[in-house]
Amino acid sequence: MSRSAHPAGPRHADVYPEGHYTAPATDLNELDPKVWSRTVTRDADGALTVGGIEVARLAEEFGTPAYFLDESDFRARCRAWADAFGPDADVFYAGKAFLSRAVVRWLQEEGLNLDVCSGGELATALDAGMPAERIAFHGNNKTVAEIERAVEAGVGRIVLDSFQEIVRVSHIAQRLGVRQRVQIRVTVGVEAHTHEFIATAHEDQKFGIALADGQAAEAVRRALTLDGLELIGIHSHIGSQIFDMAGFEVSARRVVQLLAEIRDEHGVELPEIDLGGGLGIAYTSEDDPREPHEIAKALSDIVTRECESAGLRTPRISVEPGRAIVGPTAFTLYEVGTIKPLEGLRTYVSVDGGMSDNIRTALYDAEYSVALVSRTSDAEPMLVRVVGKHCESGDIVVKDAFLPSDLAPGDLIAVPATGAYCRSMASNYNHALRPPVVAVRDGQARVIVRRETEEDLLRLDVG
Ligand code: LLP
Repeated sequence: MSRSAHPAGPRHADVYPEGHYTAPATDLNELDPKVWSRTVTRDADGALTVGGIEVARLAEEFGTPAYFLDESDFRARCRAWADAFGPDADVFYAGKAFLSRAVVRWLQEEGLNLDVCSGGELATALDAGMPAERIAFHGNNKTVAEIERAVEAGVGRIVLDSFQEIVRVSHIAQRLGVRQRVQIRVTVGVEAHTHEFIATAHEDQKFGIALADGQAAEAVRRALTLDGLELIGIHSHIGSQIFDMAGFEVSARRVVQLLAEIRDEHGVELPEIDLGGGLGIAYTSEDDPREPHEIAKALSDIVTRECESAGLRTPRISVEPGRAIVGPTAFTLYEVGTIKPLEGLRTYVSVDGGMSDNIRTALYDAEYSVALVSRTSDAEPMLVRVVGKHCESGDIVVKDAFLPSDLAPGDLIAVPATGAYCRSMASNYNHALRPPVVAVRDGQARVIVRRETEEDLLRLDVG
């Protein structure tokens, strides 16, 4: 089904602010496979389909706004990561990107492990049957209750993030009569090329224990002496949405240096290193992400080389991709509500969601793509800003993009690459109801996280 075109749309193709926006060279109807999930295509009528289902049907059945997650793409990406790293490494999916019971089951079926960073994520993982030994527990300020629950459940590793936590986990493990496998998270002093809020390996931030000043070496000393802990390795995560492998290489090199120092001081060769997550994905056609096999090769080459020169056995490597697995697999579907052409500036297109379902644009200046998906159009491109319905002018979903100038209220537009850090960072701002996540696969669509209702909102309001 294709929706009717609106005849009298605003025409701004040749009126761009600041003079540096040029109309796109490509046909607006084309869907760049870099930013759309793998089963997305247009049908004969020009409507977008995912998993073989047309968007208008999805909108009718599940409403808008909604996230549609391409399950076969998600599974394929899990397999690509597992295959790229092979049997001598471990891939932990970072649940903070997006977690639900269905996702936990897919991970298990595809042979991945899971990184959780809160009691809530741990509860979801355990509830959905993830074996505890395949869970890594992260966080810079885990509560005592969270640590107890993780140790009791028998999680495969706890990533220690501070001196206090080394002592806390040791006490709790002793009290529970177990020896908890742990890693120590170090900050390697790398400035990752990404937004300040998602860079994590420079020294002036809250995560980990600095390699500088011998802090990390001191943490290792304590972890090796305290009872209840089995130190299995060193962990480093340099940040998020990173394309350049150089930061990972520096990080791997510094972690291996620490392993060599530990061997020299304690006579112990720690068997594992975890290089974290943070691999970038394509949000727009400008982005060029690396494939998992290239990343795996780059990381394992550097670790092997550094270990050889330090005379160390090569440790088992683990990685924690979140965004790179789930990010590209989903898009958010919106209905266009109002359209405001601002002469000489741009056209504001308001949709039925906004910063409550995608805070990334407001928070990190993130860039997204957008397409008209309920139909194709040959109208000339107009420069738009896609905005939400919240009471805030920073409520921007897509800052600068082009849509056909015959766009009309009632059209469906979609923003690709919203699988990571959108539903998981969604809020109830303005008492918005958080959208559902619908998994689509082989002509079947099913809700895996349902839409919030006003009853859900009011249930919490007990005053
Ligand atoms: N491992 C650790 C220890 C992490 O802290 C993170 C992300 C990951 C793995 C996964 O990183 P990924 O592969 O997904 O980039 N809300 C921000 C991202 C924050 C990431 C926090 N930690 C965003 O929307 O860009």
